[in-house]
Amino acid sequence: MKTTSPVSRSGRFASGPGADVARFTESISFDWRLWRHDIAGSIAHATMLEKIGVLTRRERDAIARGLVQIAREIEAGKFQWKAELEDVHMNIESELTRRVPAGAKLHTGRSRNDQVALDMRLWLRDEIMVFCDELRDLQRALVELGTRHSEVVIPGYTHMQRAQPVYFAHHLLAYAEMFQRDWERLHDCFARANVCPLGSGAIAGSTLPLDREFVAVQLGFVDTKGRPRVTQNSMDGVSDRDFIVEFSATAALTAVHLSRLAEDVILWATTEFNFIRIADAYTTGSSLMPQKKNPDIAELARGKAGRAVGNLMALLTLLKGLPMTYNRDLQEDKERLFDTADHVRGTVRLVAAMLRHTAVNAAVCANAASDPAMLATDLADYLVRKGMPFRKAHHVVGAIVMMAEQLTKPLDRLTLIELRSVDKTFGPDALAVFDLKRALAQRRLTGAPGTTEVRQQLARWRKLLSR
Ligand code: ARG
Repeated sequence: MKTTSPVSRSGRFASGPGADVARFTESISFDWRLWRHDIAGSIAHATMLEKIGVLTRRERDAIARGLVQIAREIEAGKFQWKAELEDVHMNIESELTRRVPAGAKLHTGRSRNDQVALDMRLWLRDEIMVFCDELRDLQRALVELGTRHSEVVIPGYTHMQRAQPVYFAHHLLAYAEMFQRDWERLHDCFARANVCPLGSGAIAGSTLPLDREFVAVQLGFVDTKGRPRVTQNSMDGVSDRDFIVEFSATAALTAVHLSRLAEDVILWATTEFNFIRIADAYTTGSSLMPQKKNPDIAELARGKAGRAVGNLMALLTLLKGLPMTYNRDLQEDKERLFDTADHVRGTVRLVAAMLRHTAVNAAVCANAASDPAMLATDLADYLVRKGMPFRKAHHVVGAIVMMAEQLTKPLDRLTLIELRSVDKTFGPDALAVFDLKRALAQRRLTGAPGTTEVRQQLARWRKLLSR
C-alpha cells in the first residue's frame, strides 16, 4: 500500500504513515457513502469562490465538470477508491486535481473539518426525507390492516391480563400514533440539521471574504422564507454533532416502538393467542422441528432496537467530555449513524411488508373478545348511572365477580335475582350491559375504542396518509 497522501501530508511531513497506521485511521471504507454530498458541497463552494474572485469562470467550470465526471464514475462503480487517501474528501479532491489543475484551488477557505460537518448534514437531510416517507408507509400498512378488519374486536390487555374489549384497529392505530410522533421528531431534527457549517474553516473561519450565505442558499440551507441558515459560531460549527445524536435518538425510539409492535405480532401469532397468521414468506422454519413456523422477521425487528439504542449510547459517549473543537474521535460518528439509519429504516420497511401479509383469525378474536369479565367496568358504570358512587359500584361488582366464580358461571349468565342478592340497585336492564356490540357503541369519547370513534379515526388516518 502506498502510504503518502498528496493532499494532507505534503510539506510538513517527511514520511507517510505505516500501513497499520493508515488502516487504523482510514475512513474511506465507510465514508465513501458521502460522495454525492461531498461533490455537491464542493461544486457550491467552487461557485462561491468564483463569485468572490478566487476562481475564474473557466476554473470554476473545469472543477464542476471534473466533479460531475467523478460522480458519474462513482455511480457506475468505476471509481478507484484509495485507502492511502484516507477519506472520501481527499479521494475526490486528489483525483479532481490530478485531472483538473484548478482543483488545487478548490480547498481555498475550507477545511475537512467544516467539509465533513457539511457532508454529514447534507447526507442526513436526505436520509430523514426518505425515512419519513417510509414511516408514512408503515402507518399506511397499519391503517390498511385495521380497515380490512374493522369489525374485529380483541381483548385489550394491561399487565398482560385481559382488561377491556377493543377494536383490533384501535390497537393498531396506537402504533400509528407512535410513528406519527417519530415522524414529527424527524422533522424537528431536520430543521436543526438544516444549517450550513461551511465557512467555519478548521476552527476559526477564514480571512478570505467567503460568502457563506450564498453557499447555504445553493445547498438548500434555507428557512421557510428562503433565507439562508448558517451556523453562528465557527468552533461550534466544526464540532457540533448534536444533529446526529438527535437523529439517532429519534431512530432509537422508532426502533423501540417497532420492537413493541413486533412483540404484539409475535404474541398474536402464537398457538395460544392465534389471533393472526403471518404469511409464510415472513416466517422461517426450524432445521429440526418440521412443524415450526417462526416469526423471525418480527423477532429481528424486536432485536434491532438493541442495536439502535447501542449506537445512540456510543454516540453520546463519543461526545462526552470531548474538548473543543474538532477531534479525530468524531470520525467514529459515521458508522454508528449509518448503522442506525440502515437497520431502523430496513426494519420499518420489513414490518410494513409483513403487516401487509398478515391474516387475522376473526373467529378466534371474536371468541376471546366475548369474555364477559372484560365488561365488569361497564357493569360498575351501570350502577354509577343509577346514582351509586363509583367506589361503591366497584366494590359491588367485585362481589358479583366473586359470586360468579363461586357459581362457576360467566358474568353474563348470572340472573337478575343473583345480581340483586348483592345489591338492590340492579334492575331488569342490567344484563344488557354484556351485549358487546352495545358496549362498544357506547365508547364515544375522543380516542376511545368505540364503534363510531374507531371508524372516524381510521378515516382520519386514511385522509392524513393520502397526502
Ligand atoms: N475523516 C474525517 C472525519 O470523518 C474527516 C475530517 C478530518 N479532519 C482532520 N482534521 N483530520 O472526521
